[in-house]
Amino acid sequence: MKKILITGALGQIGSELTTKLREIYGTDNVVATDIREADSPVVTGGPFEILDVTDYEKMLMIAKKYQVDTVIHLAALLSAKAENNPQLAWNLNMNGLMNALEVARELDTKFFTPSSIGAFGPNTPKDLTPQDTIQRPTTMYGVNKVAGELLCDYYYNRFGVDTRGVRFPGLISYVTEPGGGTTDYAVEIYYEALKKGSYTSYIAEGTQMDMMYMPDAVNAIIQLMEADSEKLVHRNAFNITAVSASPEDFEAAIKKQLPEFTMDYKVDPVRQKIAESWPNSIDCAAAKDEWGFEAKYDIDKMTTDMLEKLREKLG
Ligand code: SER
Repeated sequence: MKKILITGALGQIGSELTTKLREIYGTDNVVATDIREADSPVVTGGPFEILDVTDYEKMLMIAKKYQVDTVIHLAALLSAKAENNPQLAWNLNMNGLMNALEVARELDTKFFTPSSIGAFGPNTPKDLTPQDTIQRPTTMYGVNKVAGELLCDYYYNRFGVDTRGVRFPGLISYVTEPGGGTTDYAVEIYYEALKKGSYTSYIAEGTQMDMMYMPDAVNAIIQLMEADSEKLVHRNAFNITAVSASPEDFEAAIKKQLPEFTMDYKVDPVRQKIAESWPNSIDCAAAKDEWGFEAKYDIDKMTTDMLEKLREKLG
C-alpha cells in the first residue's frame, strides 16, 4: 500500500484507521472520503473529499486524481439500521461495494472491505464457528455481507483484483460511536458506566457474541493488506475475534474498576433476534495460519483502556 483511498472514513473504523494509516504511510498518501464533513482530524488532518459511494463516476474521479493503489471500502449501513430500512441497506451496501470493486478493477488497485459475524445465521455452528461453514443469515445486513464476500472472491478469480477481507466481530472503540449495529451495547455500556454508573442492556443476559477492541481491528486490516499474497488461501473473508462475551461479562469487567456499577435489562426484540442468529464464538485459525493474526486486548485490558480514554474524552 502506497496511496490509499478510504470510503466511510468518518465512521467507527475509518476515523481510527485513517489516522493510523497517515502515521504509517504519510499524511498525503491517505485520501479520506465520506458522504459528509465533520470537525474531525480525518477531514482536517490530510486529503479529504466528499463522496457518496453510490456515485461511481465521482469515486473513480477521486481515485484517479490521487492515483491510489489501494481502496479500503468501509462505507456501509450496520445491522440494526439495515433492518429498519432494507432497501436503503441494499442500495448502499451492495451498489457501494460494486462501485468500489469496479474502481479497483479499472485502476488495478488492492482492495479491502470488511465482512462481519453478521454473515452467519441461525443454522451456522454456534461455537468455534469454522472459517468455511454454513452461511444463511436472516438479516438484510447478513445477506449483504455474504453477497459481498462472494463478490470480492469473484473479482479476484475473474479479474485478478487483489481483494482481501475479514469478518469483524462487534468493535469497541472510544473515538467514534458505531452507527446502529447489534453489538453497539458493548460500546454504550462504557459511556453509561462513566456518565451514570449504570446501564440498561438491550441484549439479554447470557447472549454471547464476539467482540474486539479497535486497535486490534485496525492492526488486523494493515497486517492483512501487507500479507504475502501467495500465503492467502481464503482472502474474503477471514474470521477474526478477540473476546467472546455476554453483557454480564462486560458488567463484571467494568465492576473490577468501578465497583458501584450496576446493570439491568430491557431487551430489544429486534436486536436480540439478530444477536441470537449470530455465533457465540468464531474460530480464527485460518487468519492465524495464513497471515499471523493475533489480538492483543482481552476484555480486562480493553476495559482499562476504554475507561481511561473515555474519562479523558468526557472530561
Ligand atoms: N457490529 C456490527 C453490527 O452489530 C456487526 O458487524 O451490526
